[in-house]
Amino acid sequence: MVKDPQARIVDKKNWKSYFSLSLESPRIAAQAQSGQFIMVRVSAHTQPLLRRPFSIHSKSEKTVEIFFQITGLGTELLSQKKPEDSLDILGPLGKGFEAGKNLKGKDIALVGGGRGIAPLYFLSQKLRSYGATARIFYGGKSQEDLPLKEKFEKEGFDLHWSTDDGSSGFKGFVSDLFKTELEKYTPDRIFACGPELMMKKISLIAQEKNIPAEFSLESVMGCGFGACWGCVRRIKRDNREEWVKICEEGPVFSGNDIIWEEGDE
Ligand SMILES: Cc1cc2nc3c(=O)[nH]c(=O)nc-3n(C[C@H](O)[C@H](O)[C@H](O)COP(=O)(O)OP(=O)(O)OC[C@H]3O[C@@H](n4cnc5c(N)ncnc54)[C@H](O)[C@@H]3O)c2cc1C
Ligand code: FES
Repeated sequence: MVKDPQARIVDKKNWKSYFSLSLESPRIAAQAQSGQFIMVRVSAHTQPLLRRPFSIHSKSEKTVEIFFQITGLGTELLSQKKPEDSLDILGPLGKGFEAGKNLKGKDIALVGGGRGIAPLYFLSQKLRSYGATARIFYGGKSQEDLPLKEKFEKEGFDLHWSTDDGSSGFKGFVSDLFKTELEKYTPDRIFACGPELMMKKISLIAQEKNIPAEFSLESVMGCGFGACWGCVRRIKRDNREEWVKICEEGPVFSGNDIIWEEGDE
């Protein structure tokens, strides 16, 4: 883990309530794996006190990029940062997706809901470099919630998208779109990130079809590196349930190990 108190913002993009920031941090970039995250101090003042976690959206030799949606004070303050400002960041943190050269030639489905698409862009780049085919399933409430659609399209990914209100693409949840597509093909593996109930549905589909699947879980995080126990959740380990720190042992877990929250989409 690297603490970089002066990561300079070298690029900023904005689509309504969504933003991306590229941060110059060569040491974090050198170690970053897809599915890992960074903790960002969003304010020099005491409000909000705690750093906020963000997945690594992409990286270059010298930079790491985050992609986020405004959901509260911290993300609001972060959205106001300008190019040339510096941010205090920690990372890379956590365990990412199990995606290596063994996936060469495999057909991989990446399913992202809303801001959950963030880590899947980095993953899609990795999979491509390993010679795997990545098909992207991207869902949002409305067309405004699909700001990365063009980015995936431009790079020639096989992209399928949905909106809950039908303003663009398949009308309905991305889990329903995915289920429909699975009538035509069977991926070798599924990686997903998004709202808990969306991932729960994808996990059930994966279990039904016997497809290995991994999910990036969210949890409110105090520290991001195992010190505060603020992120614990029950996870299956060797046929038992245990309290596990999402920041250290995750955020990515196998679908077989996750105990999903109650409720329907
Ligand atoms: C490992 C990890 C990676 C993440 N990656 C991204 C990302 O790439 N892009 C992105 O937009 N967001 C991401 N998040 C979620 C992001 O950290 C929260 O949206 C952010 O911390 C909210 O801060 P805030 O001060 O704006 O909102 P707050 O004022 O703190 O909260 C506003 C609302 O968001 C909820 N909330 C706060 N923190 C979280 C959280 N960690 N998870 C779920 N809900 C939360 C609160 O319960 C509340 O309802 C990630 C979270 C985790 C744990
Ligand atoms: S966030 Fe502090 S232990 Fe996980």
